[in-house]
Amino acid sequence: MAKPVSGFSKCTKDQKIEWLASNYFADANQGSAVLKQYWNDNQKLQKLHDEFIENAVTNYYLPFGIAPNFLINDILYALPMAIEESSVIAAASNSAKFWLDKGGFKTHVKGTIKSGQVHFNFNGPSDLLRTFFDSVKALLLEGTQAITTSMERRGGGIISLELVDLSAELSDYYQINVRFETKDAMGANFINSCLELIATNLDRQAANYEKFISNNYSLSIVLSILSNYVPECVATATVSCPISLLATESISGLEFANKFVRAIDIANASVQRAVTHNKGVMNGIDAVVLATGNDFRAIEAGVHSYAAKSGKYKSITHAKIEDGIFSFWIEVPLALGTVGGLTNLHPLVKLNLEILKNPSAPQLMQLVATAGLAQNFAAIKSLITTGIQKGHMKMHLKNILNQLEATQEEKVAAIEHFSIVAVTHAAAKNFINSYRNR
Ligand code: MEV
Repeated sequence: MAKPVSGFSKCTKDQKIEWLASNYFADANQGSAVLKQYWNDNQKLQKLHDEFIENAVTNYYLPFGIAPNFLINDILYALPMAIEESSVIAAASNSAKFWLDKGGFKTHVKGTIKSGQVHFNFNGPSDLLRTFFDSVKALLLEGTQAITTSMERRGGGIISLELVDLSAELSDYYQINVRFETKDAMGANFINSCLELIATNLDRQAANYEKFISNNYSLSIVLSILSNYVPECVATATVSCPISLLATESISGLEFANKFVRAIDIANASVQRAVTHNKGVMNGIDAVVLATGNDFRAIEAGVHSYAAKSGKYKSITHAKIEDGIFSFWIEVPLALGTVGGLTNLHPLVKLNLEILKNPSAPQLMQLVATAGLAQNFAAIKSLITTGIQKGHMKMHLKNILNQLEATQEEKVAAIEHFSIVAVTHAAAKNFINSYRNR
């Protein structure tokens, strides 16, 4: 039975692994060896990764691949993607190829503003709070100048600062809502530093405000943090073509377009479908977000909350048929950065940004929105025609063969066999067994 440990963060990496091995692994030597086999021989690179986080013991690999042939606003891109799911990059690549000779993807940015809030309690009348706020607002802004000056030089900074009365939602609850432009930075540190300064000053000013003191009203800060809900930081991506160009071997262009639009309608009508539909979108979005060193949890939270902005969780993509033209688009909040954070630090991230032609943050937003749209197109295309499993299991076959410890020769034979036979785990196992006993 493992016991609580203290001072763990101060142990060396070897000591941490030793502790882990002796407390958690059935075979301590084997467990330690597995961890250590992921260490990088390049000591400098390994140290860099170790220092990203606390208590690092090894590296956790994800496959990194490229989806080429993305024509975006008439420029050809290859999208770097970090993802473990077998069929995602294949699907993205198919989608890119499909739209390549149909005008490609058209994208634009609707806004780049982010926000953060100082959340606080106030137990007096709200009109008095408003009078107080109006009298200190300039001071609160002035107090952030030490950190906003360099951001302002880059064209960013604080856009607005307002008092929001939420006491009808929760008694005595108010917030200062601050809107920011952070240019090419995701801006989390900048935003949070500004908010904490504003909160400190707000607290100080309130403590000295005569009308609060004389009436025994108190203002107390609860917390200050950026919001990952970013409905003003939104990119769109669109594809469109005459419906006749959508015909496949098994289905006419019109039938395809109608079924496709119906699939989106279903995602808007059913939350069960909407969540999976949007999960498919996020397969593309997360993979590029991760490859470019951005925070995919923030993006996930922002996208899903945006999908529910009407009060009902719906599809994040949209489709229509108008005058014989099929259009399919995404409008998605993406608070991304191309400077700061891991972008200058992680060698692969730097390289991936180079693959993407060193985009500004708004440009990256458009590329990521495209990845989401392309991924969703591929998923819906499969779902309304062949079904998802055929392609998915074909890609997954290699994983099954690796699980069965197939040799190279066995893999080649299996891949040929399953090019005309449906892949299942049992079928693959039977095939390998009979191949071994032939
Ligand atoms: C699987 O990772 C994603 C899909 O389920 C998405 C969808 O159903 O639209 C195929």
